[in-house]
Amino acid sequence: MIHVLFVCLGNICRSPMAEAVMRHKIEQRGLQDRIRVDSAGTGNWHVGKPPHEGTRQLLDEYGISYANMAARQFASADFEQFDYIVCMDDSNVANVRKVIGGEKADLLKLMDLLPDETLREVPDPYYTGNFEEVYRLVDAGCDALLKRIESEHSLSL
Ligand code: 4NP
Repeated sequence: MIHVLFVCLGNICRSPMAEAVMRHKIEQRGLQDRIRVDSAGTGNWHVGKPPHEGTRQLLDEYGISYANMAARQFASADFEQFDYIVCMDDSNVANVRKVIGGEKADLLKLMDLLPDETLREVPDPYYTGNFEEVYRLVDAGCDALLKRIESEHSLSL
């Protein structure tokens, strides 16, 4: 089983959107027995809460399920358990490094997967209100992540 974890700050806007979109793409490809997806926030303010209304609205629009999703906080054990840890911005990377205690950690940013995009971080819609932009980046980023996983694990997508 390949384990993918998306990380943002609150785990109510960006990383839950990425989790839901990625799971949807995995199910469309029949890979749900090969790849498991989860998300977490480095902050603890929203633990237990469902995705933000703005994230739910976009997922509803695209017919993507967010059933049973609840925010949780990133913990150091996640670093041992997940093969791909994909952060939304630079501060998420710094916060994850603090929790796991080390520079060495092999962490990805979603925008690392989209080298042609000018944006190098996924802007936080909790402040910008722009959930459409997050959806566009997350959708493209998840396609790129699936391609990377496919090539690194010889899956046929
Ligand atoms: P997220 O957005 O990191 O994409 O879930 C945020 C949600 C909540 C807060 C910050 C960012 N907050 O400060 O409560």
